[in-house]
Amino acid sequence: MSDTAITELKGRRIWDSRGRPTVEVDITLADGSKGRGIAPAGASRGSREALDLRDGGERLAGFGVDKALRAIETEIAPALLGLDATDQAGIDAQMIALDGTPLKARLGGNALVAVSLAVLHAAAASARQPLWQYLAGEAPSVLPMPEIQIFGGGAHAGRRIDIQDLMIMPIGARSVAEALEMTAEIYLSAGRIMASRGLVSGVADEGGYWPSFATNEEALDTLVQAIEGAGYDPATEAAISLDIAASEFGSGGRYRLGLEQRELDSDGLCDLMVEWCSRYPIASIEDPLAEDDRDGLIRFTAAMGDKVQVIGDDYLVTNAAKVEQAAADNAVNAVLLKVNQAGTVSETRAALDAARQHGFGTIVSARSGETEDVTIAHLAVGWNAGQFKVGSFARSERMAKWNELLRIEEALGAKAQFAGTSGVRGLGQGA
Ligand code: PGA
Ligand code: ZN
Repeated sequence: MSDTAITELKGRRIWDSRGRPTVEVDITLADGSKGRGIAPAGASRGSREALDLRDGGERLAGFGVDKALRAIETEIAPALLGLDATDQAGIDAQMIALDGTPLKARLGGNALVAVSLAVLHAAAASARQPLWQYLAGEAPSVLPMPEIQIFGGGAHAGRRIDIQDLMIMPIGARSVAEALEMTAEIYLSAGRIMASRGLVSGVADEGGYWPSFATNEEALDTLVQAIEGAGYDPATEAAISLDIAASEFGSGGRYRLGLEQRELDSDGLCDLMVEWCSRYPIASIEDPLAEDDRDGLIRFTAAMGDKVQVIGDDYLVTNAAKVEQAAADNAVNAVLLKVNQAGTVSETRAALDAARQHGFGTIVSARSGETEDVTIAHLAVGWNAGQFKVGSFARSERMAKWNELLRIEEALGAKAQFAGTSGVRGLGQGA
């Protein structure tokens, strides 16, 4: 048996940032190295994501993960014991075959992703390297540009406003440390503005202020004021990044803006998105139209794709084949990468490779349901993704990941390079 053979694989139930159960997996190798993986969970999910297998029924509002844990114990562990943890692709392929369904519905995407991440961590531990370094190998490690939420919305805030994420991208920063300090100033500035208007009512799922606004435009205006109030220029120092998550309020070419009680067709929403991108200092926009609105996305990207980064999240669900198709269609120019959307580390990496081949921007992203796990910070650096989206600047499941980036930046020392805007279509090399 090789030193890196899997000798133990154990799943357990832990709890995520929404107080819901999730799957954690511990793996031990023959040489004693250990790896841990944890499944995150989305709320605004793409319909073609790997299935997050839940028990259903009354208990824990149906969110139980006993079925996924049973799949790990009775099927995945027996199949993986003895396999070499350094063969990530082989192990992931084995799990995909064992599941046998297109969306990993039988064993559960949550089971697979926790195991896949645990395998990766165990292999890095055996190589006695931090994960980012293990992934980067000889390639230079580049720290990603953060996108940080200031106001939450959509499915993360009781649909209080339609836009799901109002974020900033500190485009003037020269390091992660500086980017996060700018973010802190802007987050505090936003808090002061909300307090002065009597609008503070806590934070949404990802830590952004709960959006007590009358219109989507009021939220956008307030974000600009927060940036300026912190002393930054939105055009050159801290731009806006939006996740519209349009699949949450529209399908079949009909969109319902709940806040404004307005209904729009695909052209109407596309025009509104173009208007926002022209009126506000927006550097990046995610899922501006719904996942079933390919023509709308193509129209939007034709209009704005040379000026603005257009990210496919629900539209691409971290799937290499969908990235290929989107490149052929010119439907977007960047892809959000969520390991649990794909279901395994290898498939996530394949989506990144496909994106890179087509000159797309790549953004490693958290989910709205997260834990203390900081793996994605290592993926963003180790894979040189260029951009990183984790949620807001509050709540420790978010801060743990920003803080991990700072530690990696420090560990790189003089070798640390910051991606800045270089990977952002419309701003950097893609302009
Ligand atoms: P989710 O949201 O994790 O709830 O899907 C994050 C996003 O849409 O980017
Ligand atoms: Zn999204």
